[in-house]
Formats: sequence, structure tokens, C-alpha cells
Amino acid sequence: MHPLYKTLADSIAWTGDTRTDMVALLTVHRCPGTREHSLEVADEALRLADRYGVDRRRAEEGALLHDVSAVWRSDVRLEVARALGVDILPEEAQAPMILHQKLSAVIARELFGVTDEEVLGAIACHTTLERGATTLEKVVFLADKIAWDQPGRPPYLDGLLEALDTSLDAAVLHYLQYLWDRRDALLVVHPWFVEAYEELSETQRAARAGQTQS
Ligand SMILES: [Fe+2]
Ligand SMILES: [Fe+2]
Repeated sequence: MHPLYKTLADSIAWTGDTRTDMVALLTVHRCPGTREHSLEVADEALRLADRYGVDRRRAEEGALLHDVSAVWRSDVRLEVARALGVDILPEEAQAPMILHQKLSAVIARELFGVTDEEVLGAIACHTTLERGATTLEKVVFLADKIAWDQPGRPPYLDGLLEALDTSLDAAVLHYLQYLWDRRDALLVVHPWFVEAYEELSETQRAARAGQTQS
């Protein structure tokens, strides 16, 4: 086991219960804000899973672990990702904060024993989404945006919740559109986000055109 994982592995008494172990790990590593946020995202993911027919356990697991790499501070993330052999895009080297999604997935796999590739995928793209995202990935992504980790009410929330009444994709696109409209102000524009936005805006446009014709 890589020493970076070993340090984390030795820092708590593991129970095998994802929720309990995530709470213990983020508590020991002094990330109470991320711990509470992750619990809220898990509650939201369970609600969305019920509503959109996704397996509850998988949605909950992805949500509980999506930000677990907060144990590694932003200023060491690039170094940690290199040491662990994580594939790093130029945009991620430029803004290593974004690497937290991939780093959470490696902690989920190496320390929490998650082997479900779709759960790992949902964790690894929860900030940017990606082209061809599964329903599970969209559920974890949206749960994180509804139960966001900043003070106050998210400016996109009302529109997102309204779009959820139409479909999961409409809600995802509502958020991606919000970001797209502000892309000039983003630290970096991640290529996965661009691909997800282009794909979804195209499919939603086609869906609307289909409705108009029928
Ligand atoms: Fe995150
Ligand atoms: Fe989050």
C-alpha cells in the first residue's frame, strides 16, 4: 500500500460501514464542514435515487465519499495525484482543486474498498460531470449541487428544482447552463464539463424539437 494511503488507513479504526468510516476519517483529519456536507449530499442523493429509479445504496455510497479527499488539502493535491499516478489534465494542473473529484475516487477504491466502477465514476466526475454520464452519476452530481457546500442558497437552485419536475437531464442541463454562462469567470474550463454541456444541450434540444413535432 502506498504510504499516502497507509497514513490514512492507520488514522482511524475501520468498521466497514461507509458512513461511519467517512465520518471518522473527516473528523480525524479536521474537515467537519466537508463531513456535514457529505452527509447532506447523501440524504439528497437518496431522495433523487428514489425519484429517478437509481439503486439507493450506490447513490448513497457515491455521495458519502464524493468529497472524502478533503483529507488532502488543496495545496498538496497536485503532488498527491502525481505520487499516486492519477491521470492529470492540463486544466487540473492549473487548478488542482478540481483534482479532488479524482482523488476522492482513489480513496474510495483503495481505502473504502469500493469496486463498483459506476460508483467510482460518479465520485470522479461529481464536479464536472462527463460525456455519457449515467443516471447514477447525474444523481450524485445534482445532489452535490442541491446540497452545496457554501453559505446561503445556491443562485441556481430554484430553476434546478423546477427543471427536476421535467426530468433529471433538464435539471442537469440547468446547472451546466448556469456554469456555461459564467465560464469566463471560472478558474479553468474543464474539458469534461464542456463535453457534458455540449452533449446534454444537444439531446435536450432534440427532445424539445421532438415534443414540438408530435
Ligand atoms: Fe466536490
Ligand atoms: Fe461536494
